[in-house]
Amino acid sequence: MADKYKYIGPLYDFLSTIYGGESIHNCKRAMLCEEHVKPGDKVLIAGAGHGKDAIRAAEIGAEVTVVDLSKTMLEKLQKAFDKHPKDLKVNVVHADILKFEEYDKYDMVIANFFLNVFYKDTMLNFMDHLIKLTKQGGKFVVGDFAFPKGNVISRTIQKGYWYIAAIIFYFASDNAVHEIYNYPELMKERGLDITDARHFRYLGMNCYTSVLGVK
Ligand SMILES: C[S@@+](CC[C@H](N)C(=O)[O-])C[C@H]1O[C@@H](n2cnc3c(N)ncnc32)[C@H](O)[C@@H]1O
Repeated sequence: MADKYKYIGPLYDFLSTIYGGESIHNCKRAMLCEEHVKPGDKVLIAGAGHGKDAIRAAEIGAEVTVVDLSKTMLEKLQKAFDKHPKDLKVNVVHADILKFEEYDKYDMVIANFFLNVFYKDTMLNFMDHLIKLTKQGGKFVVGDFAFPKGNVISRTIQKGYWYIAAIIFYFASDNAVHEIYNYPELMKERGLDITDARHFRYLGMNCYTSVLGVK
C-alpha cells in the first residue's frame, strides 16, 4: 500500500509545533503519568507517528508497542529512539492496526491525533477495534482536537482552526475532512467510564483535549 505520509511525514512533528506550539505535544503525553501508567504496564499506541508519546511511556517503564502503517513515520520514530540517551525498548509494528488482533491485552491503548484521519463510519470502526484491544479495566485514551464549546464566535474560530489542518492534510495525505468529533460522548456511548480529561489551550482557544476512558 502507498505510504500516504511519504512527503509530509518527515515534517509532521515540525508542522505540529508551528501549528499548535507545545500544546499538541503536551496533549499527546497528557495521560502518560504515574497516576495512569505503572512500570511494566502494556501500552499500545495506534498510528504512533514520530512517537513522542511512545518515548514518554517507555521512560515510565511501560512495555510499549507502536503500530503504524507508514514506513516514513516509523523511520522518524526510530531516529527519535536512537537519539534518546536511554536504550528504550519499544516493539515497533509496521501494519494496519485493524489487522492487529491482540484483543483484551493492553493496560492502555492510545489514539493520539489518529481517529481524526478518518470519516465518521470508518473512525467508529477504528475506535471499536481499539477498545477491543484494551483489556477489561484498562484505559483507552484519545488525544485530539477538542469538541468546540463556548459562544458562537469561539466555536466558529475553533472549527476554522481545525478545518485549516484538515484541509492541509486532505491534500498532503488524503486524510478525511469532517466536523470535529465529540470523542468523550462516543467513548461513553461505547460503555467507557470517562475518569480524566485534560485540556490544552493555544492562541487563547481550548484547542486540544486528552480523554481517558476506563473499559
Ligand atoms: C495524523 S498522524 C498522527 C501521528 C501521531 N499519533 C501523532 O499524534 O503525532 C496519523 C498516523 O496514523 C497512521 N495510520 C493511518 N492509518 C493507519 C492504520 N490503518 N493503521 C496504523 N496506522 C495508521 C499514519 O501512518 C500516521 O502516522
